[in-house]
Amino acid sequence: MSNNTLTITHDRSGKTYQVPIENGTIRAMDLRMIKTSPEDFGVMSYDPAFLNTASCQSAITYIDGDKGILRYRGYPIEQLAEKCTFLEVAYLVLFGELPTDTELKEWTDAITHHTMLHENTKKFLEGFRHDAHPMGIFVSTVAALSTVYPDARNVLDPEVRKLQIYRLIGKVPTISAYCYRHSLGHPYVYPDNDLSYTENFMNMLWKMVEPKYQANSVLARALDILFILHADHEQNCSTNVMRAVGSSQADPFLATAAAATALSGPLHGGANEEVLKMLDEIGSKDRVPAYIDHIKAGHGKLMGFGHRIYKNYDPRARIIKWAADQVFRVTGTSSKLEIALELERIALKDEYFIKRKLYPNVDFYSGIIYQAMGFSPDMFTVLFAIPRTVGWLAQWQEMLTDPEQKIARPRQIYIGHDLRDFVPIEKR
Ligand code: CMC
Repeated sequence: MSNNTLTITHDRSGKTYQVPIENGTIRAMDLRMIKTSPEDFGVMSYDPAFLNTASCQSAITYIDGDKGILRYRGYPIEQLAEKCTFLEVAYLVLFGELPTDTELKEWTDAITHHTMLHENTKKFLEGFRHDAHPMGIFVSTVAALSTVYPDARNVLDPEVRKLQIYRLIGKVPTISAYCYRHSLGHPYVYPDNDLSYTENFMNMLWKMVEPKYQANSVLARALDILFILHADHEQNCSTNVMRAVGSSQADPFLATAAAATALSGPLHGGANEEVLKMLDEIGSKDRVPAYIDHIKAGHGKLMGFGHRIYKNYDPRARIIKWAADQVFRVTGTSSKLEIALELERIALKDEYFIKRKLYPNVDFYSGIIYQAMGFSPDMFTVLFAIPRTVGWLAQWQEMLTDPEQKIARPRQIYIGHDLRDFVPIEKR
């Protein structure tokens, strides 16, 4: 008997079935042959929140959660963060290989020439209250682009897909900067094609009346590194949404808006904002032990801690800590950092966190850096959405070109009432 099979005995019928194991996985559809009669539907697998279900095969991102490994297309995240620009990594994530010099120039040129927004976009933005959450504005504006680019619907045409990829990656920083300026009541700043992707983003955020915006090179590089770290993270909640919505062949603006909506939740990309709220609530270093006791007593979660996949450490958190040092040399240190370091020090020694393998994740330090750079906490998740747009689009494209994929449609186990007769309103 081959050891690459799983033998299942159905105790009710006494029948034995052999199911192939490939890549450590059995195909859930193979369970359907386990039946008691020809009319029987067969066995299904039940996996709420996909704890042990692979929904696709992917060649984009590799994570080993126990060893704390993250690679894009085989390259370790540490090397990419040290040696590449964000657009170089974006090309790698999307197209599978690092670009040659010519490819990088063409790619940068294509993205740079898609950074402008249709002037009408300003009118959508004007409709939002000055205190609207920037993530709500971001999601709505990305979705609204679907009305500006009806050609995007033709998702099965590779050239059409490529154009939407340029548009989305080019425009998400512009949308984000406009969200930010809207909340401040400042005039919008048009993109500057002389600048790099992150420098141009900083220009659109912070340029005032000076003729040419000069980005601080340390801060621009730190932002570029943060963008690299956030570019993709395999089948997380928002990526799963991107694939599920994209599987219905909805256009990529609408699918990206849906993915960004999933990202906004406090358990996902919204966690960086929650970390800052938590640090504010703690207030000072000496109050950290009491706060940790409060969490252990079942009052909420330590935001920025824990991960579904990483059970050793999050390799991105280590790089972010390094980037934080660089940023604080320019901006001066933050009182939040002191509280965060104390929180990490105590939690990592505490039995509750050790037993549950809870370590700082990417969101634990990113918010502190963003705040030091001058962002308000409600912008943090938007800063996550800009680079993650690359991962969403890479996963969307991979899904559409995978012959095994179809419209995503999970099964359910019905636990409601059995058949019953209608009851007229006067008898209820
Ligand atoms: N603080 C305190 N306890 C925690 C935490 C935390 N941050 N995270 C998990 N636990 C406990 C949880 O209560 C459970 O305990 P018990 O076994 O006694 O019931 C145990 O650890 C296992 O947790 P889980 O909820 O089953 O783990 P999960 O894989 O479903 O959730 C998570 C992963 C990231 C949603 C969760 O750790 C969490 O809510 N963390 C805080 C929010 C956060 O930082 N999110 C950002 C994630 S990284 C960036 C991204 O992907 O967006």
